[in-house]
Amino acid sequence: MRIDVLNGVNLDVLGRRDPELYGGLSLDELETRIYRWGAELGCTVRCRQTNHEGEFVDWCHDAYGVDGVVVNPAAWTHYSWAIRDALEPMRGPIVEVHLSNVDEREDWRRFSVLEDLVAHRVIGKGPDGYREALEYLAR
Ligand code: DQA
Repeated sequence: MRIDVLNGVNLDVLGRRDPELYGGLSLDELETRIYRWGAELGCTVRCRQTNHEGEFVDWCHDAYGVDGVVVNPAAWTHYSWAIRDALEPMRGPIVEVHLSNVDEREDWRRFSVLEDLVAHRVIGKGPDGYREALEYLAR
């Protein structure tokens, strides 16, 4: 099974962001874990991160060719209809992940443009949320 893991804006500076909210791992460390979890589940994983919305949209299009997607669009989650439109034609399941508990933070973080599009959401479980997402897709 082929899975794309798409991380959005500002997730490249994870190690510098509030560890109480996001866990203390850098993006490199997080991706190392994701690759390991993917291999344990017998999946071929491709991790990608960008701060550029158009590039993220292009990678959503690339994901039409894989079996499932794990997506954390970060702040774009709350307002990017372009990313929602890019993911809508995806045939395979989409799992939305957020490291922090977006439902217990500012009001504007409670809304997700992807909410009704995704097969599963994992919120507030830190890095382990990505493992849960991969397990969901591998099942
Ligand atoms: C985030 C939550 C978003 O609200 C925030 O803008 C992020 C990260 C998370 O993983 O908790 O950058 O998606």
